[in-house]
Amino acid sequence: MESYTRLYAEGTYDDYVWTRERPVVVESLRRERERLGSLRLLDFACGTGRILAAVDHVADELTGVDISAEMARHAARASPRATIKVGSVLDDDVLTGPYDAVTVFRFFVNAPQELRLPVLRKIRQHMRQGALLMFNNHGHSPSLRSLAVRVPRHRPQVPNELRHRDIVDLLNASGFRIEHRYGFSLFPSILHRHLLASALRGVDTAAASPGLRRFTQRMMIEQLYIARAVGAPR
Ligand SMILES: C[S@@+](CC[C@H](N)C(=O)[O-])C[C@H]1O[C@@H](n2cnc3c(N)ncnc32)[C@H](O)[C@@H]1O
Repeated sequence: MESYTRLYAEGTYDDYVWTRERPVVVESLRRERERLGSLRLLDFACGTGRILAAVDHVADELTGVDISAEMARHAARASPRATIKVGSVLDDDVLTGPYDAVTVFRFFVNAPQELRLPVLRKIRQHMRQGALLMFNNHGHSPSLRSLAVRVPRHRPQVPNELRHRDIVDLLNASGFRIEHRYGFSLFPSILHRHLLASALRGVDTAAASPGLRRFTQRMMIEQLYIARAVGAPR
């Protein structure tokens, strides 16, 4: 828990990425609320409530779900308006849809492979037709992170990463269609040190400019997906 709070402390690499991503998340949900007239939102695997706190003012009704009671306590403090539930998404009585929008951040890359599809299917069952799913892939492969996680000193047994193709397959198998994809951050955290950090952040800004975005987006480490619930839940 503490290490997770440290991850997003001001000035860290993860905070930097989130600072770029957050406006896109908030604005997409704000537009969705404007379109629908109200928004019933679920933040699945809400952790300490980072996402709930950011979107608190956009949703009319917010629910956060997390399997960890300790995380849930922090989420309740981060977003006092939200209803926080402790449990696994796979438990029958935890989700109470239909939701207009569901956010899932920093979950799929870390989750065991066999859990990803059942989780998406369960979420889909609690979304109305056309509802919006927003989630990130913070370990996009291939990207420069793919090299960093293979450097022997840092290498986990199996690098935790996901390809765009894996995401497309998961969404197709669970009744979603991708509507938008955004990319943030070309360089892995290990390079974001001292003076180099500001130079790399300048390169990120240039790479995200409208003229370059379509070439650079697929090389970015952090990928944000916006998808729609389509077809029948499976
Ligand atoms: C890396 S944290 C992400 C927290 C938050 N979404 C964010 O981006 O700041 C992943 C969270 O998933 C939760 N989690 C893992 N498996 C879960 C499950 N089956 N059902 C609900 N929550 C789960 C963990 O307890 C943890 O809080």
